[in-house]
Amino acid sequence: MAFSPYNDYWREIRKLCVVHLFNRVQQYRPIQEDEVGRLIGKIFKLSVDSKPVNLSEVMMCFSSTIICRVSFGKRSNRSHCDMGHDLFDEISKVFKENSSGSEGFDWEKGFVNEDDVQGLTYLKAVIKETFRLQPAAPLLVPLETLGKCNIGGYNVPAKTLVFVNSWAIGKNLETWENPEVFSPERFFGCSIDYEGLHNELVPFGAGRRICPGMRMGVATVELALANLFYNFDWEMPIGMNKEDLDFEAIPGITAHKKNALTLIAKKNISD
Ligand code: HEM
Repeated sequence: MAFSPYNDYWREIRKLCVVHLFNRVQQYRPIQEDEVGRLIGKIFKLSVDSKPVNLSEVMMCFSSTIICRVSFGKRSNRSHCDMGHDLFDEISKVFKENSSGSEGFDWEKGFVNEDDVQGLTYLKAVIKETFRLQPAAPLLVPLETLGKCNIGGYNVPAKTLVFVNSWAIGKNLETWENPEVFSPERFFGCSIDYEGLHNELVPFGAGRRICPGMRMGVATVELALANLFYNFDWEMPIGMNKEDLDFEAIPGITAHKKNALTLIAKKNISD
């Protein structure tokens, strides 16, 4: 769909997907919550073994499994990424055993669910700020003009390939104060949102080709991050400093980290 020109095929497939897939975010809630549980379980196991967590790998596995379950109703065929899931039952057991005493870990209360997330305004601002500074698709998806038009005094012929530099838009000095600084607070009392109504922030594009998976994507990111923060304290491996964190990306339509982010998760079982 993303690479189809604007034609009857695109209209049909987009309508189908919006009705049967994208408008059903609430229906996918159990899948998302189940996968977050598995993600936390996987990280818990690594933290118990004092092993570092390759967040790039576990998050890639997490998001592709959700998309697979939502689209096909089941996980993909077994891959190395699925192996961790076998641990899930075992880890659930460990959690449950630890929650037997009144001071133990309470599996039910160990999760932040989608309702809780709605009240997490700072987390939402952190995610918005991340979309501004590090948009997942820095040049969106190439678009094509339907007819000739004039943009900022330039005549643009029909059928011109257009790249929208969402990455640069998020750093525009005319819109953003100190654009290079990561400051989620900038969104408090600011009406700019990423839902396609504000040209100042377009991580999901805008207009008729806007990302139809936006709500699903945001809900997944919010739920996963809230639970990663709620369940663990995160530390850098010994010998690694803040300055060693890098944001280099591999070239491509979507920005994937060049070097994996590997951190140590610390779980306090009695918290
Ligand atoms: C944080 C998560 C996501 C981000 C940042 C994102 C970003 C984008 C962007 C920038 C575009 C191009 C928009 C344009 O050209 O104006 C796009 C298109 C698209 N996205 Fe997403 N997306 C996300 C999640 C998802 C998810 C979860 C799905 C599906 C399950 C999805 C499916 C699509 C499709 C099918 C298109 C093409 C739409 C069309 O051409 O009509 N996206 N996305």
